[in-house]
Amino acid sequence: MNYLKNILVTGGAGFIGSHVIRLLVKKYPDYRIVNFDALTYAGNLSNLSDIEKMNNYVFVHGNILEADHISAVFNDYDITDIIHLAAESHVDRSITDPLAFLKTNIIGTVNLMQAARKAWEKDYSKHMFYHVSTDEVYGSLGPEGYFYEDTAYDPQSPYSASKASSDHFVRAYANTYGLQTKISNCSNNYGPNQFPEKLIPLMLNNIRHSKNLPVYGDGTNIRDWLFVIDHASAIDVIFHKGRVNETYNIGGNNELQNIALVHILCDLMDQKMGKPQGSSRELITFVKDRPGHDHRYAIDNTKLTTELGWSPSVTVVEGMKKTIDWYWDNEEWLSDITSGSYMDYYKRQYSLN
Ligand code: NAD
Ligand code: DAU
Repeated sequence: MNYLKNILVTGGAGFIGSHVIRLLVKKYPDYRIVNFDALTYAGNLSNLSDIEKMNNYVFVHGNILEADHISAVFNDYDITDIIHLAAESHVDRSITDPLAFLKTNIIGTVNLMQAARKAWEKDYSKHMFYHVSTDEVYGSLGPEGYFYEDTAYDPQSPYSASKASSDHFVRAYANTYGLQTKISNCSNNYGPNQFPEKLIPLMLNNIRHSKNLPVYGDGTNIRDWLFVIDHASAIDVIFHKGRVNETYNIGGNNELQNIALVHILCDLMDQKMGKPQGSSRELITFVKDRPGHDHRYAIDNTKLTTELGWSPSVTVVEGMKKTIDWYWDNEEWLSDITSGSYMDYYKRQYSLN
């Protein structure tokens, strides 16, 4: 079959990537979606078990640090477009192992664009390199203000510095070589299939098993939360309708202090487990702060909502309830990944024996 597009999605076995792949494979039967993923600790093919047999889906086990393999995939599948999500994504890990972030997030991104140049340089106008990035590149906000698309970059962690650098490389390739690009910078995602090193799934798992809930510092840091399925729909809209070589901020206008969010999770889980209101809150433990902990992130999403007509499909409470239900019903998914290497990481991060 001749496909209208052959889209290489990197990092498709991860949290956000798996939701992007599901959306594209189902919505666009005339596109072939090639999932290129190294299956690091964060990659899990079971995230895609419901669509893995669909004709327009292919999985390739590969690492974006291996340039020759990327070129071979371009040839094998006649890749027309890239949606690039593969990354090392956890801030705490970037503090203990910054080089891994430099390699995957910067060199890996450049490797992909080198392969794209080679394959597409005869006519860049038919091809798109879409880079999925983060709001953390803009740094940390005080109590007022928002991140806009033209806010100056000011990354504060090794993770955000590596993502900022990759964004700069993407713009440099557009400017220097004529590669057609798009970049989106999104706020904190939550939802099904998120690896339980991140705040929400970690808290849900610990509440269920009556373990301590480690809140960094005094819990007053603020994040702007977006349901992962809404991030996937924004990527779809930007990929298809966004202007070439533009940046779009993605966020759901859901700012919450960490401690307020943890209280919401505790109370919803108490209802779910039939426990007296307030019982799970007793598990909250304030622990040593993350070094260089960004205080507040908040996205102004006006460009995306007004120019492209995107809006989130759920409120934060609806999204949290859906997330809680998913983790509750998928205990096996969680126990499969909380064994082995993840437990070693968990013990190191929280100084447990
Ligand atoms: P994740 O950690 O859940 O998944 C990352 C995926 O990339 C995994 O499947 C992993 O196997 C794969 N991968 C890692 N290194 C690779 C390599 N060298 N070669 C090929 N594959 C590799 O991450 P996520 O939370 O789904 O984030 C996806 C993207 O979205 C990242 O670029 C991240 O920076 C960005 N982002 C994430 C959030 C968030 O809240 N999670 C918000 C904004 C932007
Ligand atoms: O803003 C987008 C970013 O959001 C993405 O680019 C990153 O890939 C993603 O991991 C996320 O980064 P954060 O550092 O904000 O997410 P995390 O879930 O690690 O932490 C959310 C907040 O909760 C943060 O203020 C730190 C705090 N926290 C986190 C953990 C894991 C705790 O208080 N306790 C914890 O155990």
